[in-house]
Amino acid sequence: MARTSKRDLVRAAAKARQRAVAPYSKFKVGAALLTRSGETVTGANVESASYGLTCCAERVALFNALTAGKRNFVAVAVVARAPGGPMPCGACRQLLAEYAPHAVVWVADSRALRTIREFSVRELLPAAFLDVPADSD
Ligand code: THU
Repeated sequence: MARTSKRDLVRAAAKARQRAVAPYSKFKVGAALLTRSGETVTGANVESASYGLTCCAERVALFNALTAGKRNFVAVAVVARAPGGPMPCGACRQLLAEYAPHAVVWVADSRALRTIREFSVRELLPAAFLDVPADSD
């Protein structure tokens, strides 16, 4: 199978966005992860009547991939109707730093999928908390 391009992954995120469950904010987000072996795993945001329980598209995609046994993420695309594309929230940056530290992050506005901005997980969350230090007190 042909290698997944940046545009392919953004398109997969845009498609996943259609499955967002966002009745409260109406802000639909889709995410697509690409593994080193070329597999794509997607997710979309899911909201709750108890607003704080909402889970972002990036984390849904990550949990979906991790619980399917997939690791070694090389890229993640995130798409929403937002100028310049949606920037992952702090919680998602933390999870990306833990489980996709070497991934490139591509963001795009759903109205302009060919304009893709690129970031590294490192630059989105420098000095991340990565492990629970042993407590010998
Ligand atoms: N959201 C995401 O899914 N990803 C982001 O990067 C930012 C925010 C969702 C959470 C909530 O359902 C809605 O967007 C509004 O915050």
